[in-house]
Amino acid sequence: MPVSMSDSELRERFGSRPDLADVAAYGAPQLDVAVRLNTNESPYPPPKDFMEDLGRSVANLGLNRYPDRDFPALREGLARHVGTLTERIWVANGSNEIIQQLVQAFGGSERKAMTFEPTYAMHSHITRVSGTRFIRARRNPDFTMDLEASLSAIGLSQPEIIFLCSPNNPTGTVIPDEDVAAICDAAPGLVILDEAYAEFSGGSLWRLVEDYEHLVVVRTFSKAWRMAGARIGYMVAQGSVGRGPHGPCPRRGVDGHGRDDPPRAGPVVERAVHNPGHHRLPEPRQLHPVPVRVGAGPRGLAPTAGARGARPRLLLDPGL
Ligand SMILES: Cc1ncc(COP(=O)(O)O)c(C=O)c1O
Repeated sequence: MPVSMSDSELRERFGSRPDLADVAAYGAPQLDVAVRLNTNESPYPPPKDFMEDLGRSVANLGLNRYPDRDFPALREGLARHVGTLTERIWVANGSNEIIQQLVQAFGGSERKAMTFEPTYAMHSHITRVSGTRFIRARRNPDFTMDLEASLSAIGLSQPEIIFLCSPNNPTGTVIPDEDVAAICDAAPGLVILDEAYAEFSGGSLWRLVEDYEHLVVVRTFSKAWRMAGARIGYMVAQGSVGRGPHGPCPRRGVDGHGRDDPPRAGPVVERAVHNPGHHRLPEPRQLHPVPVRVGAGPRGLAPTAGARGARPRLLLDPGL
């Protein structure tokens, strides 16, 4: 017989973790506008012939089978794309899931993760939802990193996970290569370098993983490659970031308890995007540069008047 319970009784018996009570859901509304600045999606769809290829590949999938949980073909293709070894690549459903797997494996209630704010909101969100202690360090007023202050924050707090984001969302600030290296030198644990926008800057620092086995470089096909809907994110790492049965887990260098938490591999996209011997992905497409100055808009970014006449008004026009 159903028993009726008050709201507070319900919350007490079936409520989520009390430490999540003040955690809001990730707040990036999906607006019906052409240019979605809040989610940084490309307004351009992938090329037509790529989509036709994808459709043909999807038609031949054996969906009655579970996919290979190590997705070797996709990882081989990505390794070729990056120019590294297949064993250095791990893939998941978007770079958010890579970050989530890393925090599940390397974080936890006894551990701390540090961000340099303002930065991508999911870093702190995933940290908090995983129960990992969250330490918020600051950037300079112009949103560059203050290396000395950052190193001393790291020295004081000894975080097991450090998040870096370059170019940084939402400020666009790039962390100089030598500062990334200095932070890796000082880090007592894992360094996650989120490079979601590396294609819009001088390039990726993935080669640094050869020098630092506690560095993980996280990349995505959601931005310059205009495939946010495909949910393909990957990481480049070596050594200490081993792969457990199905995902990242601590190995040597950084101790901890990897959890066997199988990722969903996005099998349709995985097999369709990568045809062995026929490595086809749409080219990243550069957007028209909109001159941007930092600190002017309500959230730190606002187009300035420039060669193409982009004005702050741009943000207010319908469609943006
Ligand atoms: C810095 C940063 N990292 C990661 C992501 C998530 O990308 P993905 O679509 O690969 O999960 C975003 C998306 O906005 C981002 O801005």
